[in-house]
Amino acid sequence: MLIGSASPRHVLTAPLARPDVIERAFPTAGDGDPASRLDILRHLHAYYTAYLAGAQDFERVPCLNTDPQIREIERAWHTSRESRVDLARLPRSVDEFQEWFLTTARNHEQPDFCRYLEHEASLPEIALFVAAEELVDGRFDDLVALAQVGLSGAAKMTIAENYWDEMGRGDPSQVHTRLFASSSAYMSSLLAAHGAGIDDLECAEIYENACLLMSYGIHRHLIPRGLGAMGVLEQSASPRFEAMVRGCARAGVPDAAIEYQRLHINVDADHGKEWLENVLLALAGTSPAVLREICLGVCIREATIMGPVRSVTRELGTVGYAHGSIAAELGVTATPGSPWDSFARSWNDLPFDRYMADHGRYRQRRYAEFHVVPVSGTVELLPRRAYTQTTTTNYLNGGIERLFAPMKAVTASSPVLRTALCWACGELQALTGHPAWFAQVFQNRIICGPGLIGKPTPEGAHHDGVDYVLTVMVERHQVVGGVSVLYHDSDHRKLLELELDEAGRFLFNNDKTTLHAVTPINNISPPTEGHRDVLIAIFTHMEDGKIPLTG
Ligand SMILES: [Fe+2]
Ligand SMILES: [Fe+2]
Ligand SMILES: [Fe+2]
Repeated sequence: MLIGSASPRHVLTAPLARPDVIERAFPTAGDGDPASRLDILRHLHAYYTAYLAGAQDFERVPCLNTDPQIREIERAWHTSRESRVDLARLPRSVDEFQEWFLTTARNHEQPDFCRYLEHEASLPEIALFVAAEELVDGRFDDLVALAQVGLSGAAKMTIAENYWDEMGRGDPSQVHTRLFASSSAYMSSLLAAHGAGIDDLECAEIYENACLLMSYGIHRHLIPRGLGAMGVLEQSASPRFEAMVRGCARAGVPDAAIEYQRLHINVDADHGKEWLENVLLALAGTSPAVLREICLGVCIREATIMGPVRSVTRELGTVGYAHGSIAAELGVTATPGSPWDSFARSWNDLPFDRYMADHGRYRQRRYAEFHVVPVSGTVELLPRRAYTQTTTTNYLNGGIERLFAPMKAVTASSPVLRTALCWACGELQALTGHPAWFAQVFQNRIICGPGLIGKPTPEGAHHDGVDYVLTVMVERHQVVGGVSVLYHDSDHRKLLELELDEAGRFLFNNDKTTLHAVTPINNISPPTEGHRDVLIAIFTHMEDGKIPLTG
């Protein structure tokens, strides 16, 4: 019943848009504060959602351009995003446009992320990525409808065809938003079973991704940007959907729950091709100004989605672990004399661990402790101390003081180690808010050979008695096995099995909510010796600069 409804036009009352908050969210230089960005973009998203309401809710639709808060947010937001685009790299003519666009779209396919989805992502991780699309895919057909306003000819027909696909080509059961809703519902229930939920995903990037397309659809003067952004989205989506479908099949997701993703492998490949030919190329030729606006839309969309699609912080916070590769950050190249090369070779000079209660001679290690403050880049080596664990944490080797061989000074000051520790503690600060961390760092080599099985975790599945545990692969040499396994702390169900198979690949886990273990290693070709070299850093937050009790 609409008549007599007296709901105000204003749906937004949050006093958010104080100039200092906007400036913190979208500073003229740098990335800004994620929490302020989240607040502001959530607010903007609510405004756009209200603006795009159906006719039945017309009284709740805000009048465009009348809210000074929204105007100020949009000004700061769009200016900040434009300032990140390298204008010198934009194509200057329509002839250059096609190749530039296809190259940009290929980068936008995110091959690393696709590989990860297909081969490694666990079920709850996959569920998180589907849930993350909710704000865009849940109303994508409206965005397509907004994109076609004012066009004509082949461009209009192309978007109309695209819209008809969104409408399931007339079959209500095949309407894309409906298929997405059913996939999303399945993934949400899966997340709930893992003690996580869509609310855990709250981050500025997800809102920004959604707001961008809505803003371009609503503000007609930004429509060429919208067409560029949607064009690059369509052009690059197909490989991601394909990887998602394969990852889901690997993880045992039923077919019915991934109909939406499977359908888009082919549909979006067609859409991408047609958008480029009939919409973007046709429009880009109309004037240099239109060409520039289309390119800005492509670049801004690309920058919005590239970084955040996978966030270590988010995964650590929701499912309790994250994995991936920090090879690029660590500068992993085996070039003789490179920082990584000398860092990795320092594993050739580790003494045997003298404290093995099982008398095994399969572990060599060095140890050091650091005080890390990521904001200032501080990585301070602390005075040598014995490593202790309680027998509750480590029944096998705990209960004694173990004075391990110290890490060599050249390794402790290696830029590779400092980068790894700063990166890890930066993630932990973003997750927990704690600015200072106590890092206990092991260089571990586990050896195997004829008649010698190497046991990376002789104590079995265990906690380290700290806050977080990071394992970074340094080298696997002639070994099989050595698979990292995580279990849920409360019911010991298996969460993840992962082989860290390349230098720089890491597993980061919450030591309170998960137990960890690594399967034994055997040598691959007798009689050669094999080894598995890893850097293990275990982190506990510091209060008032004091070294915390660990173990
Ligand atoms: Fe679709
Ligand atoms: Fe599409
Ligand atoms: Fe451990």
